[in-house]
Amino acid sequence: MSWFKRTLNSSIGGKLIVAVTGLGLVGFIIAHLSGNLLIFVGREALAEYAEGLRKFPAILWALRIGLVGMAVAHIGFTIKLNLANKAARPVGYAKKTYRRATLASRTMVLSGLTLLAYIVYHLLHFTWRTTDAEIAALGPYEVYDMLIIGFSSPAISAFYIIATVLLGMHLSHGISSVFQTLGINNPKYNKLFRCLGPALGTVLALGFITIPVAVMTGFVTR
Ligand code: HEM
Repeated sequence: MSWFKRTLNSSIGGKLIVAVTGLGLVGFIIAHLSGNLLIFVGREALAEYAEGLRKFPAILWALRIGLVGMAVAHIGFTIKLNLANKAARPVGYAKKTYRRATLASRTMVLSGLTLLAYIVYHLLHFTWRTTDAEIAALGPYEVYDMLIIGFSSPAISAFYIIATVLLGMHLSHGISSVFQTLGINNPKYNKLFRCLGPALGTVLALGFITIPVAVMTGFVTR
């Protein structure tokens, strides 16, 4: 077996792939939030951004394929590692003790699976525009109006907010774990590494939540 295949099949190789693809997905989330926050600049800024994204279709498709590849590897290797863990301990612990485990760390699989379901709905809602006739009738760059129509429904806004809280929790534990997986360990900075996940997870989740809240409260209007 080649070195590459051996590494892929090892538990540390799998953890490395989950960590590195997770970091790549965080990069997308930061870029995606930055683009969407242009709603606070105005209709034209958001339209220009949407138009800019489509100016170079080859680059857009390369990024999309990379994004899907990272998501598939992230989820696939997480499932593989979980199954291997279960196989190594078929009986399980007599009593689960969660001495230092946070809620975010205990719910990684649940928050990850809910996020997956959310992303499928989100793509149908805003990328393929198949869930709402009013959104489907908009032009390709009328993203400002699309967000206002989309978040005018309290049920849809509530769903986005709940999913975003789960995203924040998932990132909070995920980002902190990356340092451990990559072996970045320095007693001087470990406390900072542990805080970085919850801090970034909270900032990103709050950033996304401002958008449905701004529409629901009438801060952003048509
Ligand atoms: C309030 C929160 C959010 C808003 C307002 C928002 C808005 C949008 C919009 C407008 C699009 C369509 C872009 C276009 O076709 O021009 C989009 C696509 C997308 N969003 Fe979001 N989004 C939000 C949260 C998220 C989150 C939390 C994730 C991931 C965890 C996410 C992942 C995606 C993906 C993967 C696409 C498809 C990108 C592509 O077509 O290449 N979004 N989003």
